[in-house]
Amino acid sequence: AKEPVRVLVTGAAGQIGYALVPMIARGVMLGADQPVILHMLDIPPAEEALNGVKMELVDAAFPLLKGCIFIIMWFKFQMVLLRCVVATTDVVEACTGVNIAVMVGGFPRKEGMERKDVMSKNVSIYKSQASALEQHAAPNCKVVVVANPANTNALILKEFAPSIPAKNITCLTRLDHNRALGQISEKLNVQVSDVKNVIIWGNHSSTQYPDVNHATVKTPSGEKPVRELVKDDAWLNGEFITTVQQRGAAIIKARKLSSALSAASAACDHIRDWVLGTPEGTWVSMGVYSDGSYNAPAGVIYSFPVTCGNGEWTIVQGLAIDEFSRKKLDLTGAELTEEKELAYSCLS
Ligand code: NAI
Repeated sequence: AKEPVRVLVTGAAGQIGYALVPMIARGVMLGADQPVILHMLDIPPAEEALNGVKMELVDAAFPLLKGCIFIIMWFKFQMVLLRCVVATTDVVEACTGVNIAVMVGGFPRKEGMERKDVMSKNVSIYKSQASALEQHAAPNCKVVVVANPANTNALILKEFAPSIPAKNITCLTRLDHNRALGQISEKLNVQVSDVKNVIIWGNHSSTQYPDVNHATVKTPSGEKPVRELVKDDAWLNGEFITTVQQRGAAIIKARKLSSALSAASAACDHIRDWVLGTPEGTWVSMGVYSDGSYNAPAGVIYSFPVTCGNGEWTIVQGLAIDEFSRKKLDLTGAELTEEKELAYSCLS
């Protein structure tokens, strides 16, 4: 039997957390033969709700959710508890020994708040959680930041956890990627699993650039470019892009709550592909520490097309970028540079 993997979910009492933890416990993230130990973190005001989630996890009797001998002697003077879930408001306890960290907890923008105030709250959260992960997570822990501003929160986490390799710190743009696949599949009336290789470039914000120039669809007569099948450049260069960019707002309008099940599912896709690898000939979008590929700004967390194998992502190189795309890559890159400056101004 496989050794259990410890998965941290921060903000676990929230909406995405509630959708995400059962997916992880069912093997959606790491596979149906991979036992897991969940570490759930939230803040004291949500402690009771977090406990409720823990109760439901027990009640769901998930076979993959494993008991563990969790020795927490060194900071709480108790030891050897047999339990399947760590539900806590203590960051150190939550981060101890985790192999995977899904960072969903953050400070949401509230009405009337300045961007800088929201940034400042999240910078301080991600700074302290970075230190806890750095000191207590398992070596080679993989991190995905979901909480907004996702790219910049991930950058702060990276900056304040210098001993965690930059390659291990990512942010979620897979939801946007999946939304783009979904839109193409609806437009062409084909199975979403037959559509592949869309790209989300840049920031997980409304400046992101959903790019279909290299995307294909599996048809009875072989793989065909999306552009050739859609035959509607005006839609692809207009409504398609804005629909994907603004899908989050459309969900809020319809549900009166932000996307949760699709975000949770995307977080599972992100980690699964990173750990288990992408299928041959297929890439996915991930926010990763930019090396300046495609002339994106270096030193920000920028979403690129990546393939994964042996637990590592690699940016897909050599894709042609036309003039229309160039402008969009630059625009979202400029926003990330500006966000980085704003985040740094909150530090001083
Ligand atoms: P929510 O408000 O329902 O849940 C957030 C949870 O985080 C709450 O339980 C809160 O108590 C907790 N929290 C706050 N500060 C914390 C801290 N310092 N440590 C641990 N937990 C903390 O929000 P929801 O809907 O679950 O969304 C979570 C985040 O994900 C938001 O920032 C949202 O904007 C973002 N998001 C990102 C997406 C992406 O594609 N990257 C998609 C959808 C949402």
